[in-house]
Amino acid sequence: MIAVKEIPPELTYDIRHIVLRQGLPRESCYWDTDKLPGVFHLGGWVESRQTGVATFQPEPYPEEPDTPAYRLRGMAVLPEARGRGVGTLMLLAGTDRVKQMGIGLLWCDARIGAVDFYLRHGWERHGELFEIPTAGPHYRMIRAM
Ligand SMILES: CC(C)(COP(=O)(O)OP(=O)(O)OC[C@H]1O[C@@H](n2cnc3c(N)ncnc32)[C@H](O)[C@@H]1OP(=O)(O)O)[C@@H](O)C(=O)NCCC(=O)NCCS
Repeated sequence: MIAVKEIPPELTYDIRHIVLRQGLPRESCYWDTDKLPGVFHLGGWVESRQTGVATFQPEPYPEEPDTPAYRLRGMAVLPEARGRGVGTLMLLAGTDRVKQMGIGLLWCDARIGAVDFYLRHGWERHGELFEIPTAGPHYRMIRAM
């Protein structure tokens, strides 16, 4: 059985480190924004094991600075737990929560390997491929709700 629930920032660090910051210091997984008001973190579970994390933070989409928006960051599922719906469950739970706040725009910088995942969930790709030095090529993506 898979499940999703809200977690404190401390429960994001291990999975961020394994999936998104491999080879970098653990401190690279502690983000200044993690404890700011409005930020929430979701964890995904397969049975009794936490296998996923995702962080949603209030942050305007750079091209629409006056529109209230949330940014999705740090979406990660452990390799051995992928393809079981944990990523989808976290994405849908976070999207619903943002929507319930009356916010109509979500955005993220997506690794190219995750672009199809977001496209299948109604996100759109915006702009050109760009490079993040610590994390490789990305597309900016948005989800209007
Ligand atoms: C992107 C990512 C978060 C998706 O997580 P996930 O838990 O594997 O996502 P899901 O299982 O919900 O969906 C992935 C695939 O599994 C399929 N799936 C979902 N539920 C399923 C189930 N119950 N049984 C079998 N397959 C299932 C989905 O259809 C999807 O298939 P597809 O890729 O062929 O379309 C994960 O691959 C990941 O951590 N990637 C590396 C880090 C990364 O790129 N993060 C995003 C940064 S922007």
